[in-house]
Amino acid sequence: MFGYTSSAQVSSDHNSRSEKKIDSILKLMTLEEKIGQMTMYNGSWDLTGPPGTVSAKDKFEKLKNGKIGAMLNVTSAEATREAQKAVMKHTRLKIPLVFGYDVIHGYKTIFPIPLGESASWDLELMEKTASIAAKEASAAGIHWTFAPMVDVSRDARWGRVMEGAGEDPYFNSVVGVARIKGFQGDDLSSAHTIAACAKHFAGYGFAEAGKDYNSVDVGVYELHNSILPPFKAAAEANVATFMNAFNEIDGIPATAHKYLQREVLKDGWNWEGVMVSDWGSIGEMIAHGYARDKTHAGELAIKAGSDMDMESSAYEIGLKSLIEENKVSMALVDDAVKRVLRLKMKLGLFEDPYKYANPDREKAEIYSESHQEIARDAARKSIVLLKNDTLQTDKSPLLPLKPDQKIAVLGDLADDKDTPLGNWRARAERKSAISLLEGIKNAVDPENITFARGPQFVIDNLEEGKRQFLWPLKFNKNDTTGTAEALEVAKNSDVVIITMGENAYQTGEGRSQVDIQINKVQKEFLKKIRKVNPNTVLVLMNGRPLNLSWESENIPAILETWHLGSQAGNAIADVLLGKYNPSGKLPVSFPRSVGQEPLFYNQKNTGRPYSRNTVTFSGYTDSEKSALYPFGFGLSYTSFKYDNLKLSDTTMTKNGKIVASVEVTNTGKKDGEEVVQLYIRDLIGSLTRPVRELKGFKKILLKTGETKTVSFEITKNQLEFYTANKIWDVEPGNFRIGIGNDSRTKLGAKFQVLE
Ligand code: NOJ
Repeated sequence: MFGYTSSAQVSSDHNSRSEKKIDSILKLMTLEEKIGQMTMYNGSWDLTGPPGTVSAKDKFEKLKNGKIGAMLNVTSAEATREAQKAVMKHTRLKIPLVFGYDVIHGYKTIFPIPLGESASWDLELMEKTASIAAKEASAAGIHWTFAPMVDVSRDARWGRVMEGAGEDPYFNSVVGVARIKGFQGDDLSSAHTIAACAKHFAGYGFAEAGKDYNSVDVGVYELHNSILPPFKAAAEANVATFMNAFNEIDGIPATAHKYLQREVLKDGWNWEGVMVSDWGSIGEMIAHGYARDKTHAGELAIKAGSDMDMESSAYEIGLKSLIEENKVSMALVDDAVKRVLRLKMKLGLFEDPYKYANPDREKAEIYSESHQEIARDAARKSIVLLKNDTLQTDKSPLLPLKPDQKIAVLGDLADDKDTPLGNWRARAERKSAISLLEGIKNAVDPENITFARGPQFVIDNLEEGKRQFLWPLKFNKNDTTGTAEALEVAKNSDVVIITMGENAYQTGEGRSQVDIQINKVQKEFLKKIRKVNPNTVLVLMNGRPLNLSWESENIPAILETWHLGSQAGNAIADVLLGKYNPSGKLPVSFPRSVGQEPLFYNQKNTGRPYSRNTVTFSGYTDSEKSALYPFGFGLSYTSFKYDNLKLSDTTMTKNGKIVASVEVTNTGKKDGEEVVQLYIRDLIGSLTRPVRELKGFKKILLKTGETKTVSFEITKNQLEFYTANKIWDVEPGNFRIGIGNDSRTKLGAKFQVLE
């Protein structure tokens, strides 16, 4: 009905024609049809939130009556076509549905969990993997992913720390933008790109005590300086949609936060996309004690700027009466509907509502060999070497493994083909990852490898076919079966590769924990193995920073491999055997104790930063206050030296520029990549400023013996912050700067911004 004839050219002419088209559609719409465009329902296959009360049959009826404008969790070319067909055939205006899905770290080809992939510090790579995820998802009829999550996450207890880029606002900004570019490409109407979604707006990662969905209590300055920068970057990168958040901020639920959604995002940043609620978050304002009922909740949400209601039915239930009673103006509804229609127009759905759902592409493109290769590359680049001690026997580091060593492969996670897929694994086949055991066997003579599982740590208690997303895990608390056999194997091997960490479903939504150590059964097992064979390499698989205090004291080599996706085992083997020299760096601080959480490097100094042999300083009496493994940290099989930090000038004007440079040399015996990191401290401000902040980084390859000069431009972008005057500004004064290989880098050079 709304055949849209032009080619995909994006021009202002095209935009104005689109806007005219949108206006003309809007004029034809009844209020019920408008509310339908603002309503999103879950399909019946998959649940990524608490089950609702509307039956599949009723949803289908609603579809046919134009009461639903968007669906989530409907996947495959066949299923999306079927739903679209119902809309095209039965609704009056034939406005196509838009299908959303959590394509967080891959669709069927699974890449490392976002936290893990961020450890690559490789923006091009992250853009690439997002573009592949988009390619696979779009072939299966998906138009829209609910990613990237750009919530700054400082608390290891929070299960969703796995879904973002960690604790730094700048890092989350650049990683978020890379992922948005990957998903959306240059042209949203291409059948290979999908709309992205910056989420969760805002503050979700600051949940008190790391408890999911919990309240957030930050002031306006912290909000602007620490939480909003990645969202602003996403808006500037033209992200098509935003999702608001479950949490309240200082008493106001984010879903009804007018200041955030209208004043900051839509008016302040001039952003024209769709703001979708989180799953049921409009209705949840009743439980928050903020809304009396769903109608009231809907009123609060639309007024605040939430354009689409995911799974609350609040707009469906109450918006009509709110309009009729003049409690909500039609202009607000029209604005929301126009945003939704604009999204559909940009996706090209008015030209062809079925163009994404393509069974041939689905067969040919999903899980292709070339995607597996990229998944392997992404996985090995995400691995972080935390420790690699020298052996007593031959004075060489434990890793990489040497040819012909007899290798014991131990631990419940070693032959686990499911855990590496991580929590948000979209449509990955269950148990489809290459396990570590398979990876090593692919790489060395299988004769040299002996596997022994040791004790199980998670009991698989789900019926086959039931998705694990919603249900708690059951842990083995005391069954040590398998230990004796594993000890024998360890004793008779040259080196032990032992896997420990977390099941795929120990992190992710609703998976907060107060204990962030390796679980007791695993740890006891590790201790026993370590006793019989000191040549033990600990391979961690986990989705959050762990407390590794005991392990770092007692285990000579530790490799952080996160949940690495479809090609996990091959990638880990590449690193263990030295076919790839590890280059990953932590995007989050690893604590010495859970008691330090939330822990982040870019803290404030406080009035009492140093100990003067008394207890009256800001720290702990029973632990050091620093991280065990800091933000930005990661080792290599080679070593790097930093020399000659130079500034092109020691003064600059507010709008001026200086260049900071450093010489980096590969002083070891292997070629390797290094992430060169720039940190800046603003010494005095109208607000207190963090002790240091990441302001740039470059990943470089250095051949053995090679030196490269790495330089960074320092301009207003690196120096401004949301000041006491409530504007982004550079305040004149002194700054210190450091360039190095982690967040402990000495801030050695000083410069001044002049009045
Ligand atoms: C709730 C999560 O918070 C959100 O991130 C996700 O996109 C939706 N559920 C949809 O699954």
